[in-house]
Amino acid sequence: MPTSPRRRILVTSALPYANGHIHLGHLVEYIQTDIFVRFQKLRGHECLYLCADDTHGTAIMIRARAEGRSEQELIAEMRAAHLADFNGFQVAFDHYGSTDNPSNRRLCAEVWGALRSKGFVVSRDVQQLYDPVAGTFLADRFVKGTCPRCRAADQYGDTCEQCGATYAPADVIDPVSTLSGTRPDVRSAEHLFVTIEALHAFLAEWTQSSGALDPRIANYLARHFLGEPLRDWDISRPAPYFGFEIPDAPGHYWYVWFDAPIGYLAATAEWCEAHGQTIDAWWRRGGDTPAEIHHFIGKDIVYFHTLFWPAMLEAAGLALPTKVRVHGFLTVNGEKMSKSRGTFVLARTWLDHVDPSSLRYYYASKISGGIDDLDLNLDEFLAKVNADLVGKVVNLASRTARWLEGTGLAEVYPDDGGLFAKAAAEADEIAAAYEAGDFARAMRTIMLAADRANAYVDAEQPWKLAKQGPEVAGRLRDVATVALNLFRQITVYLAPVLPTLAEQAGALVGGPIRSWDESQSPRAGLPVAPFVPMMKRIDRQHIDAVVAASQHAAPQEPAPTGGTMMDTPTHADSGEPLAAEPLAPTCTIDDFSKIDLRVARIVAAEEVPEAKKLLKLTVSLGGDATRTVFAGIKGFHEPAALVGRVVVVVANLAPRQMKFGLSEGMVVAASGAGASGVYLLSPDSGALPGMRLH
Ligand code: MSP
Ligand code: ZN
Repeated sequence: MPTSPRRRILVTSALPYANGHIHLGHLVEYIQTDIFVRFQKLRGHECLYLCADDTHGTAIMIRARAEGRSEQELIAEMRAAHLADFNGFQVAFDHYGSTDNPSNRRLCAEVWGALRSKGFVVSRDVQQLYDPVAGTFLADRFVKGTCPRCRAADQYGDTCEQCGATYAPADVIDPVSTLSGTRPDVRSAEHLFVTIEALHAFLAEWTQSSGALDPRIANYLARHFLGEPLRDWDISRPAPYFGFEIPDAPGHYWYVWFDAPIGYLAATAEWCEAHGQTIDAWWRRGGDTPAEIHHFIGKDIVYFHTLFWPAMLEAAGLALPTKVRVHGFLTVNGEKMSKSRGTFVLARTWLDHVDPSSLRYYYASKISGGIDDLDLNLDEFLAKVNADLVGKVVNLASRTARWLEGTGLAEVYPDDGGLFAKAAAEADEIAAAYEAGDFARAMRTIMLAADRANAYVDAEQPWKLAKQGPEVAGRLRDVATVALNLFRQITVYLAPVLPTLAEQAGALVGGPIRSWDESQSPRAGLPVAPFVPMMKRIDRQHIDAVVAASQHAAPQEPAPTGGTMMDTPTHADSGEPLAAEPLAPTCTIDDFSKIDLRVARIVAAEEVPEAKKLLKLTVSLGGDATRTVFAGIKGFHEPAALVGRVVVVVANLAPRQMKFGLSEGMVVAASGAGASGVYLLSPDSGALPGMRLH
């Protein structure tokens, strides 16, 4: 196979927001990027996989306030959680930064300086809604009110879901801040804008002719944006805002979408620093061996990566993306992920119950490099993973390896009827599919090779040979040698998707798989290690456990954009819960005030393995005051997702000795007829641990 010249490839995934946990939707992106990177590395190219947490913005600020702690504390905790999740799914970054890092502040200032010096920054007053109680200007999604066009009630601050109108939040009738429930006032605020229309010609050329974009994306941009003047981009936010203050505009902060993509540069700079390189090696234009830059993103953030980001790079004179690879959204069983159906699954929940390799393979088998949505059908998942990975791939080794334990592979690779050579000749085709992001095609070709290999074993029937005695020992050794070689060849092709399987195959025979070219020649005369079970069958009950654990483990995160994952609220409340549990006899205010209810923050949560229903929680009442509480919410809440949540506790309940320890209070939660869940209560934002409920 011709070895292509060594390429230098910088690859990124979009930077996940630091205000929520990683879920299966995110993983469509991170797993696919990781597969692409592992593929490039296996091919011998120099490839860097960079990512970071996206830490700034109103949502983080508000969540930190709600939890009564600093943004830094919140983002540090989320970073640890994100890294643990990625690690669990074998998403292996070369560097993982943070947009709150000093290197990002420095690079933001550089790009900003370039925009300023080219005269691309202008200042203008904007009418913005301000919440006097929360003390903050309000992002559009924190405003609700009546649509100024069709008068539908309860609409977001920027669009009406009833009539589809878009408008300025200041035009909403009877606006209410969702933060404090009060009426915001309209205040005038100075904002800075980037006049990207100045780069219209450049963007038209780059989006349509550079080859960086799929034609469908290029057409979309041509139709929706490039046909008319590009609107100035509102790039600053007045204090209070969690972000970087703009050096030459005190009291103003860069909008999160300005500093987020610059996080790609900052992550590069940090990696370079640790490896004796400079960022120029990757982001300078031209040069002897210019690097390729590939951004993987979801279809919801196309606009930022194909208009604003290239405009910023162009203004700063930096290299432009070679490819922006856009994927669709995840659905589960054909529908939007949903908490109530238990299909809004956190990465952690999956890891608690099911082998991550299986999801890597399933996604690979469905990702074809287009922008269509991808469906995780749980029945198909079970069938496919078990049939392909266990039934076809691992089965090749599990039913032949044992006959080679003592003898090792045959001294000379036997005649296999051309099977190895045929699959070796498909290396370029499989590589081209990986390169194009069409992993589904790569998986299909690989599974056909596995089918041919299994047909060979079925025909040769080594288990019969094994019974026939020493005369056929040579034949048996040959058959098993062919089977193990075909197995190893297939695992070379699968290595980008299934790194663990590749490692196990290497340990069984032939040593670590380090290069794609190991698919090209069969091995002979090597020792074979005792067979250790590789991928196990996945049972329906493991999947059921994921769904059950997700059903009420409500991740407290707003949808990332435009409410894609939020269920539309309805207010047709059923009378069932009240009917099922009628009100208790009247109590006096004195009775009530005997019960000291306090706001508390969950600072630790762990399972009590021996108890079916209990989680052990440590709650903080502020300062050093903490309590241990055993709460009957296991199965409804993921321990990891509870940490940081602000809840209500009965703080003066007499301590109770339980089998597992002393319970020093009670966490208040709702439950009842018509729902099997247990729902924790969260106070409005601003409530601090230790506050009393009156
Ligand atoms: N912080 C921004 C990206 C900044 S990049 C300079 C962001 N973060 S996100 O956490 O909301 O999403 C991260 C990536 O995951 C995005 O590319 C997004 O499209 C992708 N996905 C998030 N939910 C998804 C699904 N349900 N399905 C598939 N991909 C999804 O956007
Ligand atoms: Zn309307």
